[in-house]
Amino acid sequence: MQVIILPSAHDVSLYAADRVADVINSKTNPVLGLATGSTPIALYKELVARCQSEQVSFCQTISFNLDEYIGIADSHAQSYRTFMNQHLFDHIDIVRSNTHVPLAESQDIDVLKDSAQDYENSIQQAGGIDLQILGIGVNGHIGFNEPTSSFASRTRIKTLSESTVVANQRFFKENEYQPHLALTMGIGTILESRAVLLMATGKAKAEAVKAMIEGPLSAMCPASALQLHKTATLVLDEEAASVL
Ligand code: GLP
Repeated sequence: MQVIILPSAHDVSLYAADRVADVINSKTNPVLGLATGSTPIALYKELVARCQSEQVSFCQTISFNLDEYIGIADSHAQSYRTFMNQHLFDHIDIVRSNTHVPLAESQDIDVLKDSAQDYENSIQQAGGIDLQILGIGVNGHIGFNEPTSSFASRTRIKTLSESTVVANQRFFKENEYQPHLALTMGIGTILESRAVLLMATGKAKAEAVKAMIEGPLSAMCPASALQLHKTATLVLDEEAASVL
């Protein structure tokens, strides 16, 4: 693992934007793995600016998002599809049919299992992921691979831990239905990406970052699985790195 510590969250987003630009400029049909959450918003803003000023083009890019809530429509204000449209896809030249977010609106377990398998197949058909962007949950999750997730796991249904539900409550209105289940790429799926770039900013992530980097490999800290990845880069601001 390569660990890069930069002074601010802004620097983290610029570093990540450079990495994304390198990948999409270096091959035809680049495949990006994308993440949601507050952390990559500044990265997406930077990519939109670079695309609009014609420094980068996503016209050949294929994307796969890590995860999606189960049981809410794609068009729901809090779906990860909506998040990606609003923060990135609506503002860049990517072909919409080349963007993939797990399809998880159904509550039928067999439909969801098929959807998970289809997602894995689509990633394979695209040639695998060139660069996977990740954030980290305060409990060490990546995607929605909560503590106890197997390092060999593939795209599947996961129950969100109480701390994740609480952490993500801020996005939902009072009394609005908040999903407790998600369809997420597995840790095994993520580890197959040719490169991984995890972004972590802010003090709230410091303990999870320490467990990921200095802790033992443990299913209790899913992000520690990145210690097994040959080309994982962790880019941190000073606050996220403050207890290393
Ligand atoms: C969600 C997402 C993760 C993300 C995490 C941290 O639970 N499923 O992919 O890394 O939140 O989000 P934030 O960047 O808002 O702290």
